[in-house]
Amino acid sequence: MFDIDNYFKDFMSKEEIFHERDVLRPEFVPSLLPHRNHQIQKIAEIVACSLKNSMPSNIFIFGKTGTGKTAVISYVSNHLNRQCRNANIPESKWIFLNCQEVNTGYRVLAKICDEIDPDNPVPIAGWPIDVVFDTLIEKINTNLKGNCFIILDEIDVLVKKARKSQDVLYNLVRINSHLKSTKVNIIGISNVLNFKSALDPRVLSSLGEEEIVFPAYNALEIKDILEQRAARAFYPDVLDPSVIPLCAALAAKEHGDARKALDLLRKAGEFAERRNAKQVTIDHVYFAQDNMEKDKMKEYCEALPLQSKMILLSIYQLEKHLNQETIITGDIYNTYCEMVELIPGLNKLTQRRVSELIRELDLSGMVNARVKSTGRYGRTKFIKSNVPLRDLQDYLQNESRIAELMNIPPSCIRNKITRFSGKKFRKLM
Ligand SMILES: Nc1ncnc2c1ncn2[C@@H]1O[C@H](COP(=O)(O)OP(=O)(O)OP(=O)(O)O)[C@@H](O)[C@H]1O
Ligand SMILES: [Mg+2]
Repeated sequence: MFDIDNYFKDFMSKEEIFHERDVLRPEFVPSLLPHRNHQIQKIAEIVACSLKNSMPSNIFIFGKTGTGKTAVISYVSNHLNRQCRNANIPESKWIFLNCQEVNTGYRVLAKICDEIDPDNPVPIAGWPIDVVFDTLIEKINTNLKGNCFIILDEIDVLVKKARKSQDVLYNLVRINSHLKSTKVNIIGISNVLNFKSALDPRVLSSLGEEEIVFPAYNALEIKDILEQRAARAFYPDVLDPSVIPLCAALAAKEHGDARKALDLLRKAGEFAERRNAKQVTIDHVYFAQDNMEKDKMKEYCEALPLQSKMILLSIYQLEKHLNQETIITGDIYNTYCEMVELIPGLNKLTQRRVSELIRELDLSGMVNARVKSTGRYGRTKFIKSNVPLRDLQDYLQNESRIAELMNIPPSCIRNKITRFSGKKFRKLM
């Protein structure tokens, strides 16, 4: 039995690794943001005119995940409001919305209303959209004094999911003509670089008045970011000197994502702590990296549509029962067709569509597909699962409809097992 009291007692007497663990968390806004000078300056120059009661331009920000977009905006907003307090002028209101969560035009307007006036929330649905818009105008006019900045993070999701949301955006970027003293500015953020082409030109002309790009960080830049955070997060001399360069290199190799690098460093520290180590070493970093990879795959797999999971299930069955190193698309398709029949209401996809889904799984890193030349029979695609069979089983087992099928090999596999069992094949010369 797990001795919880002893565990806590031991924990108290362990070597101290972290001085301030939360400094490594994504929510923490550091007092300096290395390698984002240019972006900070540009945004500061645009929003500065709000200090003199004029209206800044709307801004469009592009940049991949973990490139400091949210951190830079929080940093600029904190400094702008500090200046407002010093100069005794009304502070501006900064409203952050993530369009992954707030993903319809109605909900965007309702959420802004609630941020401005939390005591009188707008119902989750049911009002005509123009009534919500009028309510927003009224709430801004009665409750706000300084400027209002509305940050629409992942704005591409909003536009892609709900076509009607473009009308809401159109009205929102033009809301200032209805306002008395407050001025509203929109800052749209997107990870998708070519997203602009999906935007209604009327919205684009107002929203894209200023554009700022956040490039991915390289390994040296991430190293600087980590060093600054690590100096506060860890006790002196706790980190082996190779740990930060390794975390930086691993994160830069992926997408230049500072969040990933910080997560890796924190997790490596936590592993060292759990093992009662005096120092965080590169082994802890590799261990953390493996674990994060597993978590990512699990999350990805669980979010897949059922049809893609059926393809993974086919690969799982083939690898488990035939013990084959590599599998061809035809085998996957036959296995898939047999199993899809066992799930009521699930339609059978064409071989072409199944090949497309395999390509998507390949791009995600779940499976590895390689085209090889097989002599006079032309070129064949060989597929192999990229995660260990046991992990794949764990991921798939969470879907109840699939879990039921996991232990029964379909007849096309059973036939192969009996046909080949006991025979050894030799390559013909
Ligand atoms: N230049 C920097 N200096 C210090 N920390 C940084 C810097 N850039 C990013 N970070 C840190 O990296 C993490 C991720 O940054 P942030 O949340 O701003 O990324 P993002 O571009 O908004 O990503 P996403 O698109 O996923 O929302 C945060 O912990 C942030 O503090
Ligand atoms: Mg962000």
